[in-house]
Amino acid sequence: MTKKTQVGLIFGGNSSEYEVSILSGHNIYNAIDKDKFEVHPIWVTNDGYFANEEESFKVLKNPSYKIKTPHEIANIANLAELAHLPEIDVFFPIVHGNLGEDGSMQGLFRILDKPFVGDDVLAAAVTMDKEFTKILAQRAGVPVAPWIAIKRFEYQDAASAKHDYGKVSEKLGPDLFVKPSNQGSSVGVHHVTNEAEFTAALADAFRYDDKVLIEQTIQGTEVETAVLGNDKPLVSGVGQIFNAAGTFYSYQNKYDDNSTTKLQIPADLPKEIVDKVRANALKVYQVTECSGMARIDSTLRASDNKVILTEVNALPGFTNISMYPKLFEESGIPYTELITRLIKAGIERYNHKKTLLHKIDL
Ligand SMILES: Nc1ncnc2c1ncn2[C@@H]1O[C@H](COP(=O)(O)OP(=O)(O)O)[C@@H](O)[C@H]1O
Ligand SMILES: [Mg+2]
Repeated sequence: MTKKTQVGLIFGGNSSEYEVSILSGHNIYNAIDKDKFEVHPIWVTNDGYFANEEESFKVLKNPSYKIKTPHEIANIANLAELAHLPEIDVFFPIVHGNLGEDGSMQGLFRILDKPFVGDDVLAAAVTMDKEFTKILAQRAGVPVAPWIAIKRFEYQDAASAKHDYGKVSEKLGPDLFVKPSNQGSSVGVHHVTNEAEFTAALADAFRYDDKVLIEQTIQGTEVETAVLGNDKPLVSGVGQIFNAAGTFYSYQNKYDDNSTTKLQIPADLPKEIVDKVRANALKVYQVTECSGMARIDSTLRASDNKVILTEVNALPGFTNISMYPKLFEESGIPYTELITRLIKAGIERYNHKKTLLHKIDL
């Protein structure tokens, strides 16, 4: 019998998507092909500590298992100890948001010289920042919502026109979205239609980031596409999100039991629209140099049927109701097979990078 590939499954983390990540890890663990892979769970607590395998297994197998303070965790593995896990062949980080999805953890794997699942450093960092993503999408000819980015120093400058609702709405219209450039799960995202809401939204968004985007509101239906692989990526079908009138895909609507949002896979849209959504998703994946995986989110604008990019998620949710695995399931790749392919893509990328020279070859 060939030796099983040893997978370091990292989950948890210190972002607002901590709970989602634990559920994602739980689902990946349940679905992974146990004939091919042996899982070593690595739980990153909400305080940023790396727990040992025994404690990590407790959380992975029972997501409601909670330890209040990291001091209760026996034998906390620190980062240096991660490097001494010789048995790990490949890391699977399913840590959403801050540190897990923004290139930081990816940099750690590069330093540890280990293969890992999902995007590499550059793509993770770029797609975490919604403004950089939009700039690159435009370059690839993919439409984005018109926007203004405001940095903290501009926000603090009383003379700056960027936080003057009258001036901003002259440019973008009165109906706006305000959001931190680097966040996820709709945290700090606000829909505003007047000055008072605008002012409150900016103050809230700046609690999460030093750069805030003010976007024109795009009316239409939200669509999502999953992409998998490196040089010749697979693009899934399209899923659709129906928000109740007057609401958006907020944190509550993403995760609450009494969410008023409905998901539909596959989307009930004409073929030429679905093709456009998928073609845009591929362009965005490639221009941001994604590899491994990403979920590309857009809005089909009602006024002109244009597909407008919303954002790219380098580490999409993997819960049992999450779009990314569901989209591939619908496209004929079951969850277990999807995980195998993701791990393979990570190992292939690593093996290829090993063939590159890092200094002059005399
Ligand atoms: N410009 C916009 N026009 C209309 N709705 C928007 C706009 N920007 C964001 N939204 C709504 O807010 C949600 C979250 O915004 P998004 O940019 O995807 O951030 P996050 O990374 O937090 O998911 C979107 O799914 C959508 O419902
Ligand atoms: Mg989103």
